Parts: sequence; C-alpha cells; structure tokens
Amino acid sequence: MALERTLSIIKPDAVAKNVIGEIYTRFEKAGLKIVAAKMKHLSRQEAEGFYAVHRERPFFNALVEFMISGPVMIQVLEGENAIAKNRELMGATDPKKAEPGTIRADFADSIDANAVHGSDAPETAAVEIAYFFSTTEIHGR
Ligand code: PPS
Repeated sequence: MALERTLSIIKPDAVAKNVIGEIYTRFEKAGLKIVAAKMKHLSRQEAEGFYAVHRERPFFNALVEFMISGPVMIQVLEGENAIAKNRELMGATDPKKAEPGTIRADFADSIDANAVHGSDAPETAAVEIAYFFSTTEIHGR
C-alpha cells in the first residue's frame, strides 16, 4: 500500500474542548505520523477559499462562521492509506451517525461543529496540504 499524506484540521470546537492531545494520540496509535502542524485563527477569506467547493451549499456561510470562530489546529498526517485511515478515525460527518469510538462520536456535538476535517481523496489532499503548508514546512519521508 502506498504511503499517503492527508490534511487534517482540528476545528474550533475541539480546540476549545482542549482535546488536541487526545486526537493526536489517536492519529499516532493508528500509525499516522504528524509531519507538519500549525495553530491558526483563519481569516474569513482563508476559510471561504478552503471550502470554495461548497460555496453553493446551503450551509456554506454557517460553516465559514464556525471555522473562523476560534483557532484551529492544522496538520499533515503521513502513513499507509492515510486518507482512508484518517476518515475512519474521524467517523461520519454527522456525529449522531458516527461509529462509537470515532473522534466525532466522542468529541463532536453536531453536524455544524463536528470536531475535525480530513481530506477525502488524493487530489483534494494535495490541494488542501498546499493551501496551508509550503514544502519546506513538511517533514515526512
Ligand atoms: S462532502 O463529502 O465533502 O460532500 O462532505 P459533506 O458531508 O457534504 O460536508 C462538507 C463539509 O461541510 C460540513 N457540513 C456542514 N456544516 C454546517 N452545517 C451543516 N449542516 C453541514 N453539513 C456538512 C461538513 O462538516 C464538511 O466539512 P469538513 O470540514 O470537510 O468536514
């Protein structure tokens, strides 16, 4: 299986709950390595740009407002099958539908404040990683 990279964001709700460390432990125990990380309070422009593919969705404004409501922790995860592995750890978008033991089941309150983001495919992972990190900021294999 190929070594992959994915972009992960710990969203403002989970940062406010002080569970960055608990989430990092889950990544590491699953064999994902944190190869880049930064804490950032996104500007409206940064959040709108990041979620541009969802611009026409009814929840777009709510999503942007939420993502700029406080600092986020952004990381690049590297490992075998990293994209799917991270999405498995996160659980379903709606925490009510997320499998027990997943990050969203354990730490998210609602579909609007759902604790984490993870890239959904290799192409989006590449775009999302480049959105927040330069190559010199990534320290993987
Ligand atoms: S997908 O696979 O990209 O189509 O995912 P999707 O479930 O459609 O959600 C895309 C992102 O929008 C967020 N979302 C919402 N935010 C606020 N309110 C509502 N109702 C809502 N529904 C979905 C969802 O958390 C996804 O954000 P990220 O950061 O990608 O997880």
